[in-house]
Amino acid sequence: MGIIKKFYITKFKKERPKIELKNISLSFGKRQILDNITLTVREGEICGMLGPNGVGKSTIFNLITGLLKPNFGSIYIDKKKINNVPIYKRALDFKISIVPQSGGVFSDLTCYQNLNAIADLVVREKKNKTFEVEKMISKFELDAVKNIKAKYLSGGQKKRVCIAMALLSNPKVVLMDEPFQGLDLLSTSYLQETIVNLQTEDNNRCCIISDHAAADLLKISDRAIILANKKVIAHGPPKELIKDESAKSLYFGDTFNIN
Ligand SMILES: Nc1ncnc2c1ncn2[C@@H]1O[C@H](COP(=O)(O)OP(=O)(O)OP(=O)(O)O)[C@@H](O)[C@H]1O
Ligand SMILES: [Mg+2]
Repeated sequence: MGIIKKFYITKFKKERPKIELKNISLSFGKRQILDNITLTVREGEICGMLGPNGVGKSTIFNLITGLLKPNFGSIYIDKKKINNVPIYKRALDFKISIVPQSGGVFSDLTCYQNLNAIADLVVREKKNKTFEVEKMISKFELDAVKNIKAKYLSGGQKKRVCIAMALLSNPKVVLMDEPFQGLDLLSTSYLQETIVNLQTEDNNRCCIISDHAAADLLKISDRAIILANKKVIAHGPPKELIKDESAKSLYFGDTFNIN
């Protein structure tokens, strides 16, 4: 199964920023994690976020959703400063969905019940609820396990349930924290297609995706950023990024390639 990415957004003139982090610094106690980070993710873009363990990728997602507040700096969505906007309002007003790095499902509910619980909240037309849930079950090939409690699902199946839950609300901003983790080869390929389709279906939707499967992620990213040593050390389209000297020395190494 090949990835059909019809276009890369960087070839287009569209430059409208969707999410901006400006001069963000964040410490946990005395330990500084992010040091004066500035980054922009554009409307319609699939942006990859790469960096070693503990560099602050999940922390950046938490700053965008509102789970964490920065010590310094500003966060904007659609050019509106949102530092003081509460989590629920960010989710509703800007249609943000997140696939968290871990957890994200109700362990004692079945796969179907998990999706149904989210559909209760996010599907506006109640008569469409069952249809939307069934659509996700079929889309993510969860039919065989739909009546199994989430705690008994395999790692990859659980991940697929989380992704399906995040997409039920038809989000405008999709944040995915290690969505490829635990997926088998075909599921990885299928998820890549799903993400590319998210962009094709709605070319204003933006996706920020963090993962250690760098090649799988870069294959579908319009642009990516590399974090290291508390900073953004490189950013750009994948083909340029992998040639960047800082990115090579601090993250990719000399032999990494994408095709
Ligand atoms: N609530 C917290 N309290 C204290 N330290 C924290 C907290 N959350 C995160 N950290 C620390 O912040 C750093 C960044 O964590 P984060 O989870 O953002 O890393 P990451 O880049 O997502 O790593 P990984 O690739 O392993 O998922 C880590 O050193 C972590 O221990
Ligand atoms: Mg993380």
